[in-house]
Amino acid sequence: MQLLSATLDRVKPSPTVAMSGRALELKAAGRDVIGLAAGEPDFDTPPHVAAAGIRAIEEGRTRYTAVDGTAELKRAICAKFARDNGLDYGPAEISVGTGGKQVLYNALMATLNPGDEVVIPAPYWVSYPDMVRLAGATPVIVEAPLSAGFKITPAQLEAAITGRTRWLILNSPSNPTGAAYSEAELKGLTDVLLRHPHVWVLSDDIYEHLVYDGFRFTTPAQVEPRLKARTLTVNGVSKAYAMTGWRIGYAAGPEALIAGMRKVQSQSTSNPCSISQFAALAALEGPHDFLAERNAAFLRRRDMVVARLNEIDGIDCPVPEGAFYVYPSIKGLIGKVSAGGTEIADDEAFAMALLDEAEVAVVFGAAFGLSPAFRISYALADETLAQACDRIARFCAGLR
Ligand SMILES: Cc1ncc(COP(=O)(O)O)c(C=O)c1O
Repeated sequence: MQLLSATLDRVKPSPTVAMSGRALELKAAGRDVIGLAAGEPDFDTPPHVAAAGIRAIEEGRTRYTAVDGTAELKRAICAKFARDNGLDYGPAEISVGTGGKQVLYNALMATLNPGDEVVIPAPYWVSYPDMVRLAGATPVIVEAPLSAGFKITPAQLEAAITGRTRWLILNSPSNPTGAAYSEAELKGLTDVLLRHPHVWVLSDDIYEHLVYDGFRFTTPAQVEPRLKARTLTVNGVSKAYAMTGWRIGYAAGPEALIAGMRKVQSQSTSNPCSISQFAALAALEGPHDFLAERNAAFLRRRDMVVARLNEIDGIDCPVPEGAFYVYPSIKGLIGKVSAGGTEIADDEAFAMALLDEAEVAVVFGAAFGLSPAFRISYALADETLAQACDRIARFCAGLR
């Protein structure tokens, strides 16, 4: 009998495993690798948030909680949606999980059946298609190329929808591109969804607070209130509050869906960590002034990285609206040969050669479904980033 389930056969092995394995090997061998592959801020959790976690331990708030979040945290999340997004939700319409990732997973597990389809724009966050496959459904990938600002058009969405479509997954600002949909762009998509009442929208807003140049963040349920009854808006504290290790994410949506998600969670992790829930409460209810300071650092780094990459022949790096990623195209480098003798046949070969020869770890575009490109996370100290850019420039100058 086979050890692993047939379900697992549907999930592709992570395309980044070989890359991160090689980076670890090089580091272990004492090589000075600069990692631009991590999907998390380099900042620490704000002190008042960390203190709330410590206090929760000291006060013995260390027992099981309600499955999908404490009443206090749910109230704070309702207040957040009202304050930031003009959305009115009650506690029964809120689900808190172990990271935005678990919340997304719960939602897909709770709603998908074999044969169902989920529309996912590419480049996409690597987990969406595999979570859909784990749930037995089929991801329908719609390409959003650099020339379209990495955003899908209403016509593309219309063409991708079939009678079997259950969800459209939107992620704005995006991992891996940093691209964010304006209100008018979202309206174009929500207008299409209004014509297809069987399709729900899952909006992954985890990078909401990381937007630059005066970009005004908005979300589908806000843009089109008539869609609110079939929208799940996912968010979390990981990125904005530098709390990736605390593992708290949340979502707002119709009560029946939230109840389904609760059922999935009740049979997997029971409840998100009690201590982390108290810290998340402090994050949502506390001061937010640190965000402007951190965003100023992200903006400075974004501009530096984009400018440095665009000086390199063969690289085309658009300026993203948000998150802490850039997603440059390397179309102009395909077919060249590195100084070390590697043919740059595709973006995976580029990333591997860059790691081996220039000691910079990035994630190649194929992992995110749109090639040839690579993703840089610029959530790193300015000097380290500048050094990484020097290395990338030197590596590319050596290509023949
Ligand atoms: C687009 C996107 N959604 C969701 C998540 C999940 O974040 P977490 O589970 O830490 O809340 C991430 C993390 O990398 C992400 O990039």
